[in-house]
Amino acid sequence: MPDRPALIVDCDPGHDDALALVLADAYADVLGITSVSGNAPLDDTTRNAIGIAALLGSSADVYAGEAGPLVGEPRHAGGVHGRGGLGRVALPQHDRVISELHAVDYLIEATRKQSNVWLVPLGPLTNIARAIERDSELVERIEGISLMGGSTDIGNVTAVAEFNIWADPEAAKIVMGSGAPIRMCGLNLTRQWLSDDTVAARLKEGELVKALVGAAILDDIHDRMEALGRGRRCALHDPCAVLAVTHPTLFQFEPRHVTVETRGIYTRGMTVVDERTTPGVPEANVGVGYHIDSTSALELLFSAFEEAKT
Ligand code: RIB
Ligand code: CA
Repeated sequence: MPDRPALIVDCDPGHDDALALVLADAYADVLGITSVSGNAPLDDTTRNAIGIAALLGSSADVYAGEAGPLVGEPRHAGGVHGRGGLGRVALPQHDRVISELHAVDYLIEATRKQSNVWLVPLGPLTNIARAIERDSELVERIEGISLMGGSTDIGNVTAVAEFNIWADPEAAKIVMGSGAPIRMCGLNLTRQWLSDDTVAARLKEGELVKALVGAAILDDIHDRMEALGRGRRCALHDPCAVLAVTHPTLFQFEPRHVTVETRGIYTRGMTVVDERTTPGVPEANVGVGYHIDSTSALELLFSAFEEAKT
């Protein structure tokens, strides 16, 4: 087993966030989990995050973060993930409690205590942007940021905007322009890795509770996608951002200049990815994901669910 990278997962569970946490628990050293308003309100995403941490027996504490974007009102994705963020999925009971420390304080303190930490944001980038604003040296201390967000082509909330960026464009612009080493797993990449009923069926063969909960999460999101007329399949968006750190050889990343539109009437929340190859284009600031070996990624997902923690 190669060295397990040290991660802090910032998330808005969220069906795919939950699957990403399983991968992080299996293949990385998860120092902490921070929650943010996104797919659902902060109370819901925080409750879901600690429920998943408990399910996994993770040693990571959970820290609640920002309840809304830097500018404007909170925006959610209840039409996809349900009002509470995980549809009708009920996580097992547990007795864990949320840390008293705010997520942004935790992000600053944890990256001061330990170098070589990857930040893996899977929702709106509000917590990450707040931490960068408060501590300008943070981007120097971390190993990098591997984020799920944006797209080099079409969006999902609008023609050109992906939800995590659209929900807090100002935060995303701060992060993209921060100078941190960034890996961007946008929709152009994540849509290459789709789950369907065969994936849920394989997890149901598992004996571990986490596999059965994983199957329930997939069944629920497949039901929701079908009800939306999109068929019984869903892209494994957030899991890509975790594997981009734990298994980078599965990916093709290219250096690109990326910024975020914050003022466009029709383009607010768009990641503007400069793909020009002519001299004089702005210097690349982001590693943009263009390809994933989804077959190998799926095998890693199955192994993560089917192997008990050692
Ligand atoms: O657009 C997909 C992203 O938005 C994923 O992170 C999903 O969990 C939602 O947060
Ligand atoms: Ca998410």
